[in-house]
Amino acid sequence: MSYKNISLTSKLPNVGTTIFTVMSALAAEKNAVNLGQGFPDFDCDPELVNAVTRAMQSGFNQYPPMAGVPALREVVASKISVLYAHDYSAMTEITITAGATQAILTAILAVVHAGDEVIVLEPCYDSYVPNIELAGGMPVRVPLTPGTFRPDFDRIAAALTPKTRAIIINSPHNPSGTVWTALEMQQLETLLTSTNVLLISDEVYEHMVFDGHSHQSAASYPGLAERAFVVSSFGKTFHVTGWKVGYVAAPAFLSHEFRKVHQFNVFTVNTPMQHALAHYMCNPAPYSTLSNFYQAKRDLFRAGLAQTRFKLLPCEGSYFQSVDTSEVSPLSEADFCKWLTTEVGVAAIPTSAFYGDGFDHHVIRFCFAKKNETLEKASTRLSTL
Ligand SMILES: Cc1ncc(COP(=O)(O)O)c(C=O)c1O
Repeated sequence: MSYKNISLTSKLPNVGTTIFTVMSALAAEKNAVNLGQGFPDFDCDPELVNAVTRAMQSGFNQYPPMAGVPALREVVASKISVLYAHDYSAMTEITITAGATQAILTAILAVVHAGDEVIVLEPCYDSYVPNIELAGGMPVRVPLTPGTFRPDFDRIAAALTPKTRAIIINSPHNPSGTVWTALEMQQLETLLTSTNVLLISDEVYEHMVFDGHSHQSAASYPGLAERAFVVSSFGKTFHVTGWKVGYVAAPAFLSHEFRKVHQFNVFTVNTPMQHALAHYMCNPAPYSTLSNFYQAKRDLFRAGLAQTRFKLLPCEGSYFQSVDTSEVSPLSEADFCKWLTTEVGVAAIPTSAFYGDGFDHHVIRFCFAKKNETLEKASTRLSTL
């Protein structure tokens, strides 16, 4: 690429405007109900906002310690200890990040060298592959089983080579809502034992697991925890995606390398939000009741779609409901989403956007992190299909 007489080689030649931006813009233009991009359309607990205000008024407005406000790291460490039975040191093993996105990029930059291979399980969150490429690594794309989106350990095993530096997993899964079972975590643990492969475990939807099941954190499996960056997002958990605050928990030797990159990347994360979260998280209720909160929304939305010709895929966790559109239309996922937004007035995201090769199997994703009235409005519009 060149501009006037200045030439430039893009570091990310394949990256364009994301489908999320495209669909959100189309949704706004067509006045569609936006069930595309994954963010709540309702407010967070006012108590959390008050806690930020109090923190700012108390003078917490300057740089915090590089790894994060100690009180927040403590409360995260104790949450993980209670829920996942693994004791991380708040001092050396928990780092507060600018959302999960920065945590994942930083982990990759910290450990992936030029030419290293990193396995991603497709469909996957859209930042993973560009992050690997920025580090000079080679993304190795392994599909989750089409239709069920469960990990295929034979294919993962076949993708491991002496050059494999890391594997990235994501449960509960965006876009499919699949939640890894204990058995699947154990299978991964067995596969990685005796390898040098690191794990980046994207657990941003950890507090949204339905039907009485529980989240299986990599932290709970010693053979995984010893090699894992466990990543989470306060934005997802507390309905504040715009705050961009998350954390990474990792053994000291990994956290040490992580922090070297972190300190020259963002250095620190905004102070008042961290103090507010530290205070707010002393009460576990907001995150321990989140699964029930979202399960009710999932059930409302699924009931609304029950009479349509969409085939509802299981939704075990996260705030995404996938549907198979093949009974409704022969259009490709992307064209169907554009048609749905324009003609029916509901925006969704094509699953093909989460595959490097645009693999299309007529599955689209709706986000149900919305007010009940929004979900009801969308269901009424979709009920004609
Ligand atoms: C699977 C997954 N990982 C990471 C993120 C990013 O989280 P954050 O907003 O905390 O950066 C998202 C957000 O959509 C996501 O779905």
